[in-house]
Amino acid sequence: MTLGPGCHGLWPTPIGVYRLPGADELNPLLARMFGALRISQAQARGEPLDAAFFASDDDLLRRLQLPEGQRLVRFIVDSLQDTVGRANAAAWGPGRRPLQVAIEGLWIQCSRAGAFHDAHNHGNCSWSGVYVVQVDAEAERKAHPTYGTAHGVTRFYGPAFAQLGGAHVDLGNAYLQPPHVDVAPVPGQLVVFPSWLPHQALPYDGRAERIVVSFNASVHAAAAGSDRLHDYAAT
Ligand SMILES: [Fe+2]
Repeated sequence: MTLGPGCHGLWPTPIGVYRLPGADELNPLLARMFGALRISQAQARGEPLDAAFFASDDDLLRRLQLPEGQRLVRFIVDSLQDTVGRANAAAWGPGRRPLQVAIEGLWIQCSRAGAFHDAHNHGNCSWSGVYVVQVDAEAERKAHPTYGTAHGVTRFYGPAFAQLGGAHVDLGNAYLQPPHVDVAPVPGQLVVFPSWLPHQALPYDGRAERIVVSFNASVHAAAAGSDRLHDYAAT
């Protein structure tokens, strides 16, 4: 790559935020469906049914054949295609051809009583996401005496985060701020993010259980044998 004169914004961190229309009606149905799934999987594993944290197996996609599940999957795939297309517009070039989004894994996580998911990223995929099914209403969630506004949020750590410990900060590198961003949990909201991006689910101790759907995805050219960028971008 040759950089010409000008200011170049290299290595961006694209994040897509979407809201599912009609989520108020869909989410209770999903919560009921996931509740039944949790009971069967927890029993099969010998886990207590009232554990503060539960993560299902990551093969939930094949269990989402009912119309409610298919609606969620369609929303996830459409949202992924939107963010991935925007993020790669320059890399792919003009004349975009059909793509296939492959959901590599999809699972639910249920948390309460201070459960959290420590900082991590996701492997063997290019994009990941989290959809909120259920959580306390915003005012109630933020009123938690210990966790406050960070109660149950998803925290994303930017690429510069690891470099900022003791680093020089002045107006000249203000563009590196903030080093992390909290995304509040909103029922019906989907956040799509690069799988390499470190993130963390902060402790949650609400009245209603925090239920989210997480997934990993990869993106391929629809035509077999052309899944390489230099082929894809050639025409
Ligand atoms: Fe994650």
